[in-house]
Amino acid sequence: MLSFYWHYYLISFVFFLLIRFLLSFARVKSKVLTYEEAINHVSEEEENECSGNDDKSAWQLGLNCQHVPLQFKRYSKSESLTRSEEYYELMNKRRTVRHFSKESVPIEVIHNVIKTAGTSPSGAHTEPWKFVIVKSQTIKEQIRQIIESQEEINYKKRMGKEWVDDLKFLRTYWVKEYITDAPYLILVFKQTYSVDANGKKQMHYYSEQSVNIAAGILLTAIHYAGLVALTSTPLNCGPAIKVLLQRPAEEKLALLLPVGYPNDDCVVPDIKRKALEELAVVH
Ligand SMILES: Cc1cc2nc3c(=O)[nH]c(=O)nc-3n(C[C@H](O)[C@H](O)[C@H](O)COP(=O)(O)O)c2cc1C
Repeated sequence: MLSFYWHYYLISFVFFLLIRFLLSFARVKSKVLTYEEAINHVSEEEENECSGNDDKSAWQLGLNCQHVPLQFKRYSKSESLTRSEEYYELMNKRRTVRHFSKESVPIEVIHNVIKTAGTSPSGAHTEPWKFVIVKSQTIKEQIRQIIESQEEINYKKRMGKEWVDDLKFLRTYWVKEYITDAPYLILVFKQTYSVDANGKKQMHYYSEQSVNIAAGILLTAIHYAGLVALTSTPLNCGPAIKVLLQRPAEEKLALLLPVGYPNDDCVVPDIKRKALEELAVVH
């Protein structure tokens, strides 16, 4: 009897092992690790960062990179305190704006805020970003069409009730006038790798984190310059926008920022920000 049904027993056993493996994998992913486990743990993201490190990469700096004295201005403790307070007061006034004036902005200001974003730190100084400035009204209209057609599906089908409900306080929906009203769109592209003039591939380490930091610095520069922006991540629009703007294979759309001045009737949601006690813990 047992020998007759052996293949059923074997299949059940293999299935059992597979389920056990999947369950243990799910547990490792979600559990809080002990110190011993954590010290030997390599996350999936970190493994991915290492996997591209092969001999094809053309590291541009290497040992030929000179080290030069740091240019550093030392402030007194009280100056530091004042400056940190002033900067906080300034940045606490930054708001995401969804109602733009059509008033033009000098292109030099846009260049400067992008140059500022380009001062961002990046994994192994690979600078994994490209900022595409769109000032052409025709291209803005094409981008708006892509986004509105996708956003209608996003709102009606893809996002689900909970997500749509969570956005209600913003009073946003799939019509996006700001894309064609704002004088400029800045599209932030993440480069997962780059290719040099000789066709050699340079891996970009921690490109995700690097481009996010650069985007943060871009937002602070826009605010400091007296302009406003809307940080947006148009869902499911990246590939079509990438084709429209003829971006290369190694680039992925990270953010789309309309930039300009608010219109005269501009309103923003009356939101509160976390207090220091909620923001930070000290050990
Ligand atoms: C990654 C990211 C994506 C966002 N996407 C959108 C978006 O698609 N549409 C939108 O109206 N606002 C978007 N926002 C803006 C947030 O709604 C806004 O930052 C938040 O409500 C806080 O408001 P504040 O920026 O004025 O402080 C996004 C913000 C971030 C950081």
